[in-house]
Amino acid sequence: MSSLGGCSGGGGGILGPALRELAAQHSIVRILPLDVENSASIQETFVSVEDQLQGLGLNLLINNAGRIIPHSFLSESEESMHQLYQTHVAGILKMSQMFLPLLKKAAQMGPQDSLSCNRAAIINISSAVGSITEIYGWHFGHVLSYCCSKAALNMLTRCQGLFLKEEGILCAAIHPGWVQTDMGNSGSLKASLKKEESVQGMLKVLSSLSGKNSGYFFDWEGKELCW
Ligand SMILES: NC(=O)c1ccc[n+]([C@@H]2O[C@H](COP(=O)([O-])OP(=O)(O)OC[C@H]3O[C@@H](n4cnc5c(N)ncnc54)[C@H](OP(=O)(O)O)[C@@H]3O)[C@@H](O)[C@H]2O)c1
Repeated sequence: MSSLGGCSGGGGGILGPALRELAAQHSIVRILPLDVENSASIQETFVSVEDQLQGLGLNLLINNAGRIIPHSFLSESEESMHQLYQTHVAGILKMSQMFLPLLKKAAQMGPQDSLSCNRAAIINISSAVGSITEIYGWHFGHVLSYCCSKAALNMLTRCQGLFLKEEGILCAAIHPGWVQTDMGNSGSLKASLKKEESVQGMLKVLSSLSGKNSGYFFDWEGKELCW
């Protein structure tokens, strides 16, 4: 099974030692640079992935790239609205369009009777703060550019789910929980969930998704979230 996930290089950050250690321990893990806000970078990554797959398809594309530009309700800027729409929506759309031929190939080569992450899937890492119904986290801060762009990512996921069902490709948006990452710990309140717990939970959810879940929004424990 082949999967492409995670992200690195967006903000020009350095590769984490944990990621390098993982790749050193498991030769099956390959690290490729990628900036989802840059079409040329996406194209280069696509060429590398296609080359490494040697004629096979891509089973799983996890769009994990994300960032927050801190602002208050009143200081939110047009510039950060544009930037985060680029990261969370336009960049993810471009990723999905570019990798579609490889996902379709995996879908055609896999079992034809149902949709699953084992066959072919796009998983968009969203956030519960993008839920228009619940507006989770409103009491902790009003980061409009982040919330609005994640709400738009949810809509993109819904549309992808509808469109790509015919191609045998499952799509879902996942909220990873409030996780102890650089982002999760960046506010005044510290995140509660360990990275391992979030990832283990999400992997369990991914393995349970099927055609009836395609285009929907779940949290790391498998609970369906409202749009
Ligand atoms: N942590 C939480 O509590 C939480 C809650 C809800 C949702 N999420 C979502 O979970 C995902 C992962 O976030 P995290 O918590 O792991 O945050 P993080 O620690 O800040 O990591 C974000 C990652 O995204 C990458 N990235 C940013 N812009 C990119 C771009 N243009 N192209 C490629 N990569 C880019 C960063 O790479 P560089 O360092 O190289 O820039 C970094 O590896 C995000 O989509 C986030 O919105 C997180």
